[in-house]
Amino acid sequence: MIRTKNISFSYTEYEKTEELDSDDMELIIAAREAALNAYAPYSEFKVGAAVRLESGIIVRGANVENAAFPSGICAERSALSNSISNHPKDKPIAIAIASMTEEELTDGFPSPCGSCRQVIAEEESRTGNNIKIILSGKNKTQIIDGISSLLPLQFKRKNLQINLP
Ligand code: THU
Repeated sequence: MIRTKNISFSYTEYEKTEELDSDDMELIIAAREAALNAYAPYSEFKVGAAVRLESGIIVRGANVENAAFPSGICAERSALSNSISNHPKDKPIAIAIASMTEEELTDGFPSPCGSCRQVIAEEESRTGNNIKIILSGKNKTQIIDGISSLLPLQFKRKNLQINLP
């Protein structure tokens, strides 16, 4: 029996910042500020991410590049490594991402790369929480409810088929 299955997802787009929830706006501002601290001399593409934890704490990260290119890290993984390392029991509930070139916010949305999607997925699995993903362009914002929309049919710890705590 052959079956074709469809996966669809929805996201919300905001055309005006005034339409955003104040918590989401606060997280976007933190992500924009974080982008200013990026070390991106090679791509000149600065990305900032801000993770909101259940307690309300906001943890920031930026992309950090390296002359040996693969050694660099994206803003999303930088922020999540920071939050997991410093607040392992405080679960992330949202992440905002902003990007800029030449000190100007980009018009387009900084969609997380594949590796960052996988890391966000692992964090959702580890904590059992959905992580709201807020993609912030210069004027518009897209909000996605959780990583399964951006990474359907994801590889999870259960795929390893070994006994884990
Ligand atoms: N980058 C991020 O920080 N996050 C993403 O989701 C996409 C790409 C960084 C990696 C590299 O430093 C620069 O942007 C250009 O790809």
